[in-house]
Amino acid sequence: MAIIGAGIMGSQIAQVIATAGCQVRLFDANPAQLPTAMDTIENGRFGLRRAVDCGKLTPDERRATLALIRPVTTMADAVGEAGLTVEAVPPSAANPAASSTKASAPRKMSTP
Ligand SMILES: NC(=O)c1ccc[n+]([C@@H]2O[C@H](COP(=O)([O-])OP(=O)(O)OC[C@H]3O[C@@H](n4cnc5c(N)ncnc54)[C@H](O)[C@@H]3O)[C@@H](O)[C@H]2O)c1
Repeated sequence: MAIIGAGIMGSQIAQVIATAGCQVRLFDANPAQLPTAMDTIENGRFGLRRAVDCGKLTPDERRATLALIRPVTTMADAVGEAGLTVEAVPPSAANPAASSTKASAPRKMSTP
């Protein structure tokens, strides 16, 4: 799965999808957002470390979940092999996946 936009929604969608065992490629127009998103996923209030602390994940599951999330810096890397693309960008943003030459095949769900 490709997730376009690594803000609040995109990072949490990535976490949920990876926790379910699916590979995720996470892209943001602002590359500096990617490490922030990964830190939120790992260490945030609702992140994977807390899930371990609460007994919802084992440490091995935490590591495996993180390994399923790959931050990427180009749209093509995000959507190239994705079967599904989720856009988690502000409504004002230009339709990002549709502007990618690689994104004609994937199905797409946009946040409201
Ligand atoms: N946060 C919520 O609780 C919430 C709830 C329901 C719906 N939504 C909707 O989800 C969407 C995202 O919200 P959010 O809270 O995650 O916003 P956010 O501002 O936290 O994150 C948006 C991210 O999208 C990136 N972005 C913007 N344009 C882009 C583009 N063209 N290509 C790639 N990345 C791009 C930005 O750099 C930013 O990191 C919005 O439409 C919002 O209305 C949010």
